[in-house]
Amino acid sequence: MKKIKEITKGKAKSMFTTENQEHLIMHFSDDTSAFDGKKKEALLGKGVVNNQFNAFIMDHLKQNGIETHLVEVIDNSDSLVYRLDMFPIECVIRNRASGSICKRLGTEDGLILENPLFEFFLKDDDLGDPLINDEHIISFGWATHEQILEMKKLTYKVNEILSKLFLDSGLILVDFKVEYGVHNGKILLADEFTPDGCRLWDSETMKKMDKDRFRQGLGDVVESYHQVADRLGMNIKT
Ligand SMILES: Nc1ncnc2c1ncn2[C@@H]1O[C@H](COP(=O)(O)OP(=O)(O)O)[C@@H](O)[C@H]1O
Ligand SMILES: [Mg+2]
Repeated sequence: MKKIKEITKGKAKSMFTTENQEHLIMHFSDDTSAFDGKKKEALLGKGVVNNQFNAFIMDHLKQNGIETHLVEVIDNSDSLVYRLDMFPIECVIRNRASGSICKRLGTEDGLILENPLFEFFLKDDDLGDPLINDEHIISFGWATHEQILEMKKLTYKVNEILSKLFLDSGLILVDFKVEYGVHNGKILLADEFTPDGCRLWDSETMKKMDKDRFRQGLGDVVESYHQVADRLGMNIKT
């Protein structure tokens, strides 16, 4: 599988075209960013663990009825995916309050929410990824009403499947972000699911095992990602 042209270089990944128009190669780099790109660092080995972590989660979701863009893992840090028409939107579910919502609503870190809370954010670093709602999405034409319903339904299902998967390994899925795109008229789960885009706490000690270790300067970021992977029984090649 050959990379032909880099079409996007994001904060953590690069997407390359391949000989097949339907496919892209998703390369996970070591680059790590937080606070809308204001804090940046390369964390050695992060790309390799995240690529394989993502593939494990996407496979698990597929086995549980969620269709994803993943075609196959190519090597330690690269995967082949379907090329999608992406929604410029992030879908977030929070089981507990942590991060930006605590600032926004003055909530204590870790507060258990009565119900999983779904939020949409616009993917726009310059604007600081603002919180938006269904009305904004429809008025600005970012997605249709039916697509909104489908993205919500899928994200709640992802939450159910993964909350159980992580809890069985002694980890609380505090919150997570996913992205979707369209392939042949069908909405597929795209982008990545890794500790870069979710919060995972040890269910006994409440130790943070995700990208908050980077945001908050707690250290051992990649090591923690490996510990999570080990607990879930992933066999990460380095
Ligand atoms: N299957 C796909 N087809 C096309 N674009 C995708 C696909 N999966 C993810 N993307 C996009 O590729 C980029 C991934 O790189 P990333 O470093 O995460 O970027 P960002 O800095 O925008 O978060 C994102 O813009 C994401 O929306
Ligand atoms: Mg991203």
